Amino acid sequence: MYILLKDIKKHLNKTISLKGWVFNYRSSGSIYFLQLRDSTGEIQAIISKKEVNKKTWEACQKISLESSIEIEGKVYCEKRSPSGIEMLVKNLKIIHIAEEYPIGKKVHGTDFLMDHRHLWIRSKRQAAILKIRDEIIWAIRSFFKEEGFILTDSPILTPTSCEGTTTLFSTKYFGKNAYLSQSGQLYLEAMIYSLGKVYDFGPTFRAEKSKTRRHLTEFWMMDAEAAFVEHKENMKIQEKLICYIIEQVLKNCEQELKILERDVQPLKSIKSPFPIITYEKTIKKLQQKGVKIKWGDDFGGEEETIISKMFDKPVFIEKYPGKIKAFYMKPDIKNPTLVLNNDCLAPEGYGEIIGGSQRIDDLKILEKKIKEFKLLKDPLEWYLDLRRYGSVPHSGFGLGIERMVAWICGLKHIRETIPFPRLINRLKP
Ligand code: 4AD
Ligand code: MG
Repeated sequence: MYILLKDIKKHLNKTISLKGWVFNYRSSGSIYFLQLRDSTGEIQAIISKKEVNKKTWEACQKISLESSIEIEGKVYCEKRSPSGIEMLVKNLKIIHIAEEYPIGKKVHGTDFLMDHRHLWIRSKRQAAILKIRDEIIWAIRSFFKEEGFILTDSPILTPTSCEGTTTLFSTKYFGKNAYLSQSGQLYLEAMIYSLGKVYDFGPTFRAEKSKTRRHLTEFWMMDAEAAFVEHKENMKIQEKLICYIIEQVLKNCEQELKILERDVQPLKSIKSPFPIITYEKTIKKLQQKGVKIKWGDDFGGEEETIISKMFDKPVFIEKYPGKIKAFYMKPDIKNPTLVLNNDCLAPEGYGEIIGGSQRIDDLKILEKKIKEFKLLKDPLEWYLDLRRYGSVPHSGFGLGIERMVAWICGLKHIRETIPFPRLINRLKP
């Protein structure tokens, strides 16, 4: 039986076994200092020539960076050791001697690290990010469970586009074309007639042709959809979800946030209500800041950064011109050139994390929109059926997991938020 390092405190002054990887070592003649890592923590192990048999001492001399080992010995408190606890080793068994490890102590360039992503993820920092990602995903799931939403997954291979045809990935499908899903939304809309409030969580794909710190070509999205929910209530659900995620991460990931040197103060101060401003007001605010933008333009990355720095909480921007948003969004009765939608922008310059809207529930209006957007009607007939049989007002939204991870972890680039990022110029490893 071996012990995980997270449980080590329960075994102080006892002889135990540990398994893991050597991430650093040095020797001073008759003593070896090994830094051992497992998936839950780190420890310093001391091997003294006097205290061990010949076999263990010889094994010790073969150790290289990232070798995997099993050690047995007594663990005790030691203030001078980096983790506060040390092991005096009695036996050491080599599991595997690593070849010369390519990632060293020196600073490596991004391309090098990305080429070695399969090894880079072993670093303390990358592991901390991935643990926070896990916490965020669990928080989302428990939030929806508590709120009575049902998890129901959407297909990945689809016959049509959800978010416009310019970023579609297509693939051959038995003599026809299929497209990788950009969002599960349209399918969730079908599910609300059966399950009421639903969400999905899965990989989504967009052939993003630009290199930015916010875009992946494969990312994970959580879409939610609910019957009888209208625009304002839709934003309330998003707000509650964001507050819940932040609360859970602050509660359960203190150690990981510390490793990332994330200033948690801006996260701690996030409380509802979040500000809501219209698209039109936002355009004016940007113009006042000297940005060259006019009514009818969409916000690019730079504009999003500027807006998101104006607030110390996430901000909802609502009622965009229908022309620059997706075909399914419901026009605002007060001004039908606008739609009842919202983007939610995270503070600290992070920009859009959620896109949501109330959907068109009227058949005629939806048919007209499909025509205006020059979309093929045939693959959307099933979607039109939803407006033929008991149509109801309904709304939903999609949250990009990686954008959320980047913001909460305080990362400069989205590439570190997912184990194996897919970018315009990267499909490996
Ligand atoms: O705003 P988007 O395009 O909205 C939709 O897809 C809706 N169908 C969702 C819905 O209403 N159910 O995308 C939703 C979110 C964005 O706010 C962003 O967080 C993320 O998905 N996202 C990306 N994340 C990483 N890389 C990309 N290329 C992304 N594109 C969108
Ligand atoms: Mg969007």
